[in-house]
This record gives sequence, structure tokens and C-alpha cells, in this order.
Amino acid sequence: MKNIAVLVSGGGTNLQALIDAEKSGIIKNGRITCVISSNPDAFALKRAEKFNIPTLVLSRKSYPDVASYTKALTDALIQQNADLVVYAGFMTILDEQIVKAFPYKMMNVHPALIPSFCGKGFYGLHVHEAALAKGVKLSGATVHFVTEVCDGGPIIMQKAVAVENNDTPQSLQKRIMEQAEWKILPEAVSLFCQDKIRICDGKAYII
Ligand code: GAR
Repeated sequence: MKNIAVLVSGGGTNLQALIDAEKSGIIKNGRITCVISSNPDAFALKRAEKFNIPTLVLSRKSYPDVASYTKALTDALIQQNADLVVYAGFMTILDEQIVKAFPYKMMNVHPALIPSFCGKGFYGLHVHEAALAKGVKLSGATVHFVTEVCDGGPIIMQKAVAVENNDTPQSLQKRIMEQAEWKILPEAVSLFCQDKIRICDGKAYII
């Protein structure tokens, strides 16, 4: 059974999808053992507490720089014996220390079809604003391994979602969450926990 640590910063709907998937048996061979938030006011913390999942707040503001914050977070994850670290709406920039400590053991859900609308500055509603500004007809979500390159690690799963003529960033975000993120994130986590993902030549393959 793998220990899953979930990193959050906000509402935590992806965390909720993971909790629900664990309860319903969609996540095989894994259990959420801790939730760590960069934001003390994140509603995600309340979701975890409701299900008696241990929580920890590591506020970015309490650390002078990215390096000291990353070290504190990495140490906490090692202390928790995390086998898998899931970035579920985690909005805080970290450095390469954490990638070295958890190589191909961290995954992120991004609300677009990478390599579109990703990288620095593309997070939350900004991603959907950019997709609508471009006029794309399909967007979606991507689950990928976290490497030193922002949103650049091997892609594990993607799901496309149609953009509608009258979409707002909020309506597109909602549809992408419901139809893509909340489905592929638990699936990818389950595959990882069953050792069904391999990396070959920098790409991820489901076996
Ligand atoms: C989600 O749409 C997630 O994909 C996105 O933020 C939202 C968090 O919602 N993450 C990023 O943009 C990271 N680059 P949640 O807190 O309700 O899960």
C-alpha cells in the first residue's frame, strides 16, 4: 500500500476527487496519508479534516526564500514516508531539491492540454482565460510527472473537453474539472500505486 501525500493551496476539489476515489476503491493499493497546504485558509484543509486525514500547513510567507521553503516541504514529505506526492491545485513555486528527493514520484494536474497554455504564469483561471483568448475549440486537462521544468515533465494522461461559444473562464474551468481533472487524476494515481507507469526516453507509458 503506497502512502499518498497531497499538496494543496485552495478549494481542494481535486483533493475531494482523490478522497472519493479512495473511498470507492478506484484508487487501488494507495491511501492518502497526509495533506499539506501552502495556504492556512485553504478550504482543502477542511475537506481533509472531515475525513480524518492528517494535515499540515507550511505557509510560504513563513520562509524567506524558495530554497528554505522547498527544504521544509521536502523534509516534511520524507518524514511522512510519502511514496507519491500529488500536486492538486498547489500554487507555490518550488526548486529542484524536491524533484531530486522524489524523482518521478510527484504528479501534477494541469487544467489544459500540455504543451498548450502551460508554464510560468499559467495557473488556475489564467489558463482558461488564455484558452478562450486564443479561441481554441478543445481544451482539457493533463496529469504529468513533476520535473525541474514547470509543467514540462512526462505526460501520464490527458483528456480533451470541448470549448463552447458562450464559455467564460469560470464555465470552462468547471467543465474541465468535472469532465477531465476529477477523472484522470485519480486514475493516474491508481496506476502509479499499482506500478503501472514506466518512464522510457523521458516519456511516460501506461503498461
Ligand atoms: C485546478 O483546476 C487545477 O488543475 C489548477 O488549479 C485548480 C485547483 O482547483 N492547477 C493549476 O493551475 C496548477 N498549474 P482545486 O483546488 O479545486 O483542486
